[in-house]
Amino acid sequence: MSANFIKAIINWISRSKLSVLGGIILSVLTPVLLVSIFFDIQGNVQNPYFGFLIYLILGPLFILGIIFLLIGSFVSRGKEDIGLFTFEYLEEQFNRPGRYSRIRRHLLLTVSITLFTLFLVGLVSYTGFHYTESTAFCGQFCHQVMEPAYSTYKNSPHSQISCVECHIGKSSQWLVRAKFSGAKQLLAVMTDSYPRPIPQPVTTLRPERETCEQCHRPAMFHGDKLYIKNRFLPDESNTHVQTALLMRVGSGGYKGMKAHGIHWHVSEDHQISYRHTDEKQEKITQILLHNDGKEIIFNKKDANSPLSKSKQGQVRKMDCMDCHNRPTHVFKSPDQALDEKMVTGVISPSIPFIKKKSLEVITQKHASSEIAMLTISRTLKEWYSENYPDFIQQQGNKALLDSAIQGAQEAYTENVFHDMNVTWGTYKDFIGHQDGTGCFRCHNEDFESDTGQIITNECDTCHIILAENEPASHVLRLLKNTQ
Ligand code: HEC
Ligand code: HEC
Ligand code: HEC
Ligand code: HEC
Ligand code: HEC
Repeated sequence: MSANFIKAIINWISRSKLSVLGGIILSVLTPVLLVSIFFDIQGNVQNPYFGFLIYLILGPLFILGIIFLLIGSFVSRGKEDIGLFTFEYLEEQFNRPGRYSRIRRHLLLTVSITLFTLFLVGLVSYTGFHYTESTAFCGQFCHQVMEPAYSTYKNSPHSQISCVECHIGKSSQWLVRAKFSGAKQLLAVMTDSYPRPIPQPVTTLRPERETCEQCHRPAMFHGDKLYIKNRFLPDESNTHVQTALLMRVGSGGYKGMKAHGIHWHVSEDHQISYRHTDEKQEKITQILLHNDGKEIIFNKKDANSPLSKSKQGQVRKMDCMDCHNRPTHVFKSPDQALDEKMVTGVISPSIPFIKKKSLEVITQKHASSEIAMLTISRTLKEWYSENYPDFIQQQGNKALLDSAIQGAQEAYTENVFHDMNVTWGTYKDFIGHQDGTGCFRCHNEDFESDTGQIITNECDTCHIILAENEPASHVLRLLKNTQ
């Protein structure tokens, strides 16, 4: 009977304490794992710690259970030899007449148990692997550390793609690097030894050009593109102004069409690399351009010596990240953050001086987010009841002010993260030329080749300025056909 067989298995397991322990672990964990994985796959539990518990604690424990069981029953045999699963046992069973159907049942049972265990191991490893690749694990598990990266990601055009799609490249070599780096990071979090803020640029797991090119192909871009920026001035009526730029987005070159414009830098036909002497890659001393087999070296003119030809620092090959270093973790300036809230109407531009007043309070130094929230709310309420009591009394305006306060608070919490020492301007965006960085790291008159060639910094090379901070600009009215 199979009952005997099960008894034999139990005997077999109970020969050593280790395999008993393994057996207990397995019998407890099997139902728990099955149910939790089912819930996890269904997406019923949103808590990021749930996945951690199943896949990084219970899953490995389950596999440990199997290892204990196997070591216990095969290696540390007890006195009594059960003889189950040995050749002698099988031979005996097969040779005895009438035993054949019984052995078949036993074999079937053994195979089923083994298959079921393998299935569960496979399920735990597969879903567990996916868990460590999930946005919940990367973005929310080490909540405090990842909060700046995660909350900016959620507000970005890339919020629907997962962290690993950018941070882990395609090759298996990347995967190993990622897992090692991940383990190191977990350790740093556990021992509280991670840098605050996480320095820019990231040294490990920095996205590669090929990663972006899975979705975007600058070779296929062409032409110019209109960029319109909405701004509000810090005056009484929060005057709405617009900047319109025709961006020379250009192309990386494709099928006979030559590379041109901004994406000329990422063409196959030439390479640009540069030498920088600081970790932030802002202090560039030399730019090397390989073009049609020719090499042009641009050296930085120094205040004292005509051209610096020092070989100090590191050389980096230019790629997407030298301009798009903030494609998804976009930290805004206080001005931009408020303008965005005003365009979407969270902060109503009909409240007098709201831009000026909220800008003042969100750029003050606050000791913590909680204090900042209270200060923003109190300062604005007090200022308006003192200076615009009539406005606040009017119907509906109190609600407008409340919404504006909330908008100013969000502008703050979306960009300033006290626990990680991230404040306004901690992370620089290289896409434009704020504070002379970004494009102007190279596009400035200080670089010169031996033949006297300089790197262009004519405004029109990169964009045509159609309007700059203009209220009701002529160009935009023309475009909207509202002359
Ligand atoms: C569109 C691609 C993309 C996605 C998606 C993405 N990142 Fe990033 N991430 C980047 C780039 C680019 C950098 C900056 C690299 C640099 O400056 O060297 C970066 C930097 C970071 C940094 C360093 C801090 C900083 O802001 O520079 C952390 C931490 C980070 N990412 C975590 C995440 C997490 C967590 C997710 C998912 C919630 C995520 N990233 C999703 C592209 C991406
Ligand atoms: C898995 C696909 C995917 C990957 C990988 C990816 N992106 Fe994107 N990217 C998108 C999508 C989708 C959008 C949104 C398009 C839209 O809104 O028009 C986008 C938008 C953008 C935009 C336009 C943003 C804007 O404000 O309009 C830029 C720039 C960009 N990505 C750069 C990058 C860079 C740089 C990388 C590599 C670090 C990258 N992307 C990786 C899918 C991807
Ligand atoms: C020399 C700097 C530079 C490099 C290098 C660069 N870009 Fe761009 N890219 C820009 C600028 C500038 C814009 C337009 C302004 C903006 O997005 O704010 C842009 C726009 C884009 C857009 C949006 C285009 C659109 O039509 O909306 C995407 C997507 C993009 N780049 C992807 C990439 C990818 C992928 C790479 C790497 C293969 C790359 N870029 C390399 C500067 C660069
Ligand atoms: C690492 C240095 C470096 C950075 C950073 C850089 N460029 Fe360039 N760029 C060059 C070099 C070198 C040339 C070629 C010399 C020239 O045209 O004067 C060039 C040429 C160009 C051209 C002319 C391309 C053509 O059609 O011939 C445009 C447009 C341009 N850059 C835009 C930008 C923009 C926009 C940014 C910032 C988002 C930027 N560059 C950042 C090095 C750089
Ligand atoms: C090497 C390329 C390059 C050159 C040269 C250049 N710009 Fe720009 N500029 C950019 C890019 C890229 C942006 C877009 C940044 C963004 O997408 O926010 C920009 C944005 C701007 C903006 C809009 C800023 C804002 O956010 O309101 C103004 C204004 C501007 N540039 C003025 C100038 C003027 C004036 C010159 C000439 C002295 C000049 N730029 C030269 C690349 C360049």
